[in-house]
Amino acid sequence: MQLTPLHLQGGRELSGEIAAQPSKNAALPIIVASLLSSEPVTLHGVPRLSDVYTILDLAHHVGTRHAWVGPNSLTLHTPEILNTDAPYALVSKMRASFIMMGALIARAGQATVSMPGGCAFGYRPVDQHVKAFRALGVQVEEEGGNFDARREGSLKGTFVFELLTVGGTQNAILAAVLGGGVVTLENASIDTDVVDLIGFLNSLGADIRGAGTNTLTIHGVQALRGGEYRVIPDRIEAGTFMIAAAATRSRLVLTNVRPDHLRAISAKLTEMGVDILETEGSLIVDARDRELKPVNVTTQSFPGFPTDVQPQMSALLATIPGTSVVQDPVYPDRLTHVAELHRMGANITVSGYTQVIQGGPLHAAPVKAADLRAGAALFIAALTTEGETVIDGVQYLNRGYERLAERLRSVGANAWQPQPVLASAMD
Ligand code: EPU
Repeated sequence: MQLTPLHLQGGRELSGEIAAQPSKNAALPIIVASLLSSEPVTLHGVPRLSDVYTILDLAHHVGTRHAWVGPNSLTLHTPEILNTDAPYALVSKMRASFIMMGALIARAGQATVSMPGGCAFGYRPVDQHVKAFRALGVQVEEEGGNFDARREGSLKGTFVFELLTVGGTQNAILAAVLGGGVVTLENASIDTDVVDLIGFLNSLGADIRGAGTNTLTIHGVQALRGGEYRVIPDRIEAGTFMIAAAATRSRLVLTNVRPDHLRAISAKLTEMGVDILETEGSLIVDARDRELKPVNVTTQSFPGFPTDVQPQMSALLATIPGTSVVQDPVYPDRLTHVAELHRMGANITVSGYTQVIQGGPLHAAPVKAADLRAGAALFIAALTTEGETVIDGVQYLNRGYERLAERLRSVGANAWQPQPVLASAMD
């Protein structure tokens, strides 16, 4: 079905309470990890997003059957593996599908997974995933656009990642969980989504030590049992709403958050002049009547400032008088928001991965999201303008933001998405 654009009439103060959705990027690998057990697994806190439906399609292809048992609760069951491939049609739709490789290596001993290719913000290599598999004893061949992996016996040994990678660490963990070997991963990611994956796997009986540190030790176990698990809240979505509060000089209460996952964003907003109050499971962001200051931001792996919030922060800074410098070395080409923000009057000069932003008032314009977080940047910008902004490319926003227009309305934004006109209704 053709999606209609998102309309936003900005210039309003937001107020009230908004609950962050469960984490997309934690849920995706945990859904895949559920197939390491042949028993049923129930997950709570699964966001209803198009990326989740894509990973469920892939899981279905390999043999996982699922049923929604609550608004955000899902039961998954993989009694046996029916296919050991992840075809291009699904991997090209969503890069996170590459995580299927580790799970299939563990459960089925083999996997044929399409190379993910590029995405809207550039080339995203998987060399560290493949190097880790090979170092731990998996044979991996590249042929016809696919990686073909096979293991004889258990994975064992040590691999030192050349850089911090969330997906690479998760893939290596998944591959090593079953069997009798001992695997050590050095320079492993300490991202919240890696820690949550480990929490989930250990709750099913895996033996993974060192979560939240750069050294992980995985003692392979013979089998995982079924179980029940709650996925962490989405820190990227929460960060987006924190920035929305700052951009509209509003006070918002964010619930279902882990304030300790949001400290880099809180620190930047505080530096700008926003008041942030942390409580257990919630955050109060207060930017009412504040004159905000420009700041410099550089993205890093967790616990640094997240690349997934860079476009939204750039949009906010484009509205703050003065000069801000934003650098995204994690994804140097994550810049598709810039040309669209220019259409709204932003003054942003790009050199390599550096944006030099001269902030000032923006105006409404028709714009188009080319990827998920660029779409988020556009709705932040739209919230600050008096006129009506029409954001096309809603399919990208639907990948990461649940019921966005409805939830923005619940805190006072004037946001709506007209219903599509069906062909039959036009006859
Ligand atoms: N990298 C390599 N080689 C590899 C793997 C990664 O050079 O083999 C590089 C990447 O090019 C990047 C850096 O390492 O420069 C970090 O990439 P990482 O592997 O950590 O990213 P990812 O696991 O592919 C996840 C999120 C992304 C998020 C990044 C960084 C999921 C499904 N995706 O991707 O989320 O940007 O971590 O935090 O978890 C999003 O939600 O909008 C999104 C793109």
